[in-house]
Amino acid sequence: MTTTIALITGANKGIGLATARQLGARGMTVLVGARDAARGREAADKLRAEGVDARFVPLEVTDAASIAAAAELVEREYSHLDVLVNNAGIVRADGAGLPSQTTLDTLREVYETNVFGVVAVTNALLPLLRRAPAARIVNVSSEVGSIAVMTDPQGALFALTSVPYPSSKTALNMITAMYAKELRDTPIKVNAANPGYCATDLNHHSGFRTPEEGAEVSVHLATLPADAPSGLLWGYQMDAGGGYGVLPW
Ligand SMILES: NC(=O)c1ccc[n+]([C@@H]2O[C@H](COP(=O)([O-])OP(=O)(O)OC[C@H]3O[C@@H](n4cnc5c(N)ncnc54)[C@H](OP(=O)(O)O)[C@@H]3O)[C@@H](O)[C@H]2O)c1
Repeated sequence: MTTTIALITGANKGIGLATARQLGARGMTVLVGARDAARGREAADKLRAEGVDARFVPLEVTDAASIAAAAELVEREYSHLDVLVNNAGIVRADGAGLPSQTTLDTLREVYETNVFGVVAVTNALLPLLRRAPAARIVNVSSEVGSIAVMTDPQGALFALTSVPYPSSKTALNMITAMYAKELRDTPIKVNAANPGYCATDLNHHSGFRTPEEGAEVSVHLATLPADAPSGLLWGYQMDAGGGYGVLPW
């Protein structure tokens, strides 16, 4: 039997850790991507104690050398990759979160991780994903990246005005759609996940969903069958009263 290999970036805590746990429970070997060795090892140890075949992989998504080393490790040890979950992400805002208060330093910092990091990691691992029988790429995005959701005057998110994080996820949505187009004649599916508002360090635990519930979305997209769609933003639908489905771009 061939082992299914999944790499999750930012998997030492929050939704990423829960995603690693759930993919591991499905029998996958999970590579716990983390930028901090102590935090990454601790997370992998915890998962192994729970019976998951987990291994820490050093991965700072803004660092080209770190990405190259992670790709080399996967190639050397496993020779292919079945699932890539681009989960690592950060939130930053200036002042009261108004566009007019946005600094380029903050914008660059957020884009380095949430946008450039995803492209760099995906491109480094794509040759290994192509070697898998039917790889899945999951880009962990957000409903705040949906222009349709954010500009709906009746929607719950209409009051939000911050530029760096929402626009980084809008860029990620487009990136997802473009990779899906490039890979449409392959068995690889590329989708963007909306975990919903989950209580994690990212939002000082203010979310109303659990990280485990958020991870369900990434796991669903990471395990799509052959006849499932590619190039969608899929997940928790707050404005539709909860439940899962396709969100508008
Ligand atoms: N929580 C929500 O409500 C929510 C909603 C929609 C989308 N999301 C998305 O879900 C994903 C996970 O977020 P979360 O809520 O689980 O947040 P979290 O608990 O803060 O976890 C973020 C993870 O990303 C890692 N990370 C950040 N920058 C990194 C970098 N440059 N290189 C490698 N790893 C990096 C963090 O590592 P360290 O521990 O070393 O900082 C951590 O493991 C993010 O993409 C976020 O935008 C979250």
